[in-house]
Amino acid sequence: MEFPIGATVTAQALETNPYPLLAELQQYEPVSWIPALNGWLVTGRDQAIEAMKDADRFTVDDPRFTTAKVIGDSMLNMDGPEHTRHRAAFAEFFRPKAVRDGFEDWLNEEARRLLQPFESGGEIELRSALAGPLAVTTIVHFLGLKDVAARDVLGWYKHITNAIVGMATGMPVSAEGQSAVEAIRERVRNTLADAGHASLVQTIHDRGVLRPDEVTPATAVVMFGAIETSEGMTANVLWHLLTNPAAMASVRADRSLVAAAVQESLRLEPAAAVVDRYATQEVQLGDVTIPKGDLVTLSLLGANRDPAVFPDPDRFDLLRPNHQQHITFVEGPHRCVGLHLARAETQSAVNAVLDLFPKLTFDAERSGDPQGLIFRKPAKVTCTF
Ligand code: HEM
Repeated sequence: MEFPIGATVTAQALETNPYPLLAELQQYEPVSWIPALNGWLVTGRDQAIEAMKDADRFTVDDPRFTTAKVIGDSMLNMDGPEHTRHRAAFAEFFRPKAVRDGFEDWLNEEARRLLQPFESGGEIELRSALAGPLAVTTIVHFLGLKDVAARDVLGWYKHITNAIVGMATGMPVSAEGQSAVEAIRERVRNTLADAGHASLVQTIHDRGVLRPDEVTPATAVVMFGAIETSEGMTANVLWHLLTNPAAMASVRADRSLVAAAVQESLRLEPAAAVVDRYATQEVQLGDVTIPKGDLVTLSLLGANRDPAVFPDPDRFDLLRPNHQQHITFVEGPHRCVGLHLARAETQSAVNAVLDLFPKLTFDAERSGDPQGLIFRKPAKVTCTF
């Protein structure tokens, strides 16, 4: 088969202004071969959902996923019963009630605490002041790791993501990546050694669903799953509200709309724009036959703007009746385990901004639009008040 639109796609276009291209692909080539990605790109919503629900045919358990080579095996690169076991170790702690009872008050206070130093300044850049730091402090607090500062986590994250990218281009695991994983292992060990320090890591270890050697990779994957994604999620919804003054006014007037604003922002701009799978056999997806072993990238960004499901899909519509039908957290076995915590975190962030800054003016020139090939967010969200 020929894929003329797919042949024109560049990584740069996907990173900067992907919407027209994704809309065209969705209409004419919902499953398309993209030479620039050396893989298939699925923009059709039905086809993307079919693939993410079918781990037998579209797996994450493939040696080309370099994350596992750096941090060790975790739920992110497993399918089948082992994946179920790894997820089961964490799932109950991420349930809505557990998040509400255990973290909502803390999140509200933490978001306000992070903003307070800026209250008298007249200007604030919300991604670096709030979205980024809140993502890190939230997950450190949630895991309960002892003696871990936000800057440690960011340093580990940088070294580990660099190592993962390096490996994808054929390099061995970097020394910095190895030391970062070793540092996490040491912090897990210290946390477990302190009998007086209650933590989720301790609970997970003691329950024995995971073997002791599996606790560090599991901790790392939960920690890193929460950082760049949650930062992007919060930055994106603030950006959407600031660039849609009518929506901002509605949300200010009726705080119950904050949840809707978060959902609509998740739909329009998924902070993680794509997820990757590998075909375990020759598979039929839509009209296309995909050979065994091929990379299949599912575009959440594309699928979330399907006009048949979301009329006028590029519009930020606070009152859209079905925005929660976005697939930003994917469907099927790998559905984001942290989604309730992430949503609570972002809602706290938005509420804190509305509380502390009753009149914000967006500075578009010193901000940016959401961009990125995999992780999408604006470079800055600058406001004056
Ligand atoms: C507290 C914050 C978060 C935590 C702790 C977290 C953790 C995780 C973990 C551990 C997984 C792997 C689940 C599995 O493979 O079974 C996962 C999957 C996923 N998460 Fe999250 N996450 C968080 C926030 C977010 C946010 C904000 C987004 C996007 C807006 C996001 C998008 C995803 C996606 C798309 C997947 C599926 C990956 C795939 O199917 O390959 N996550 N998350």
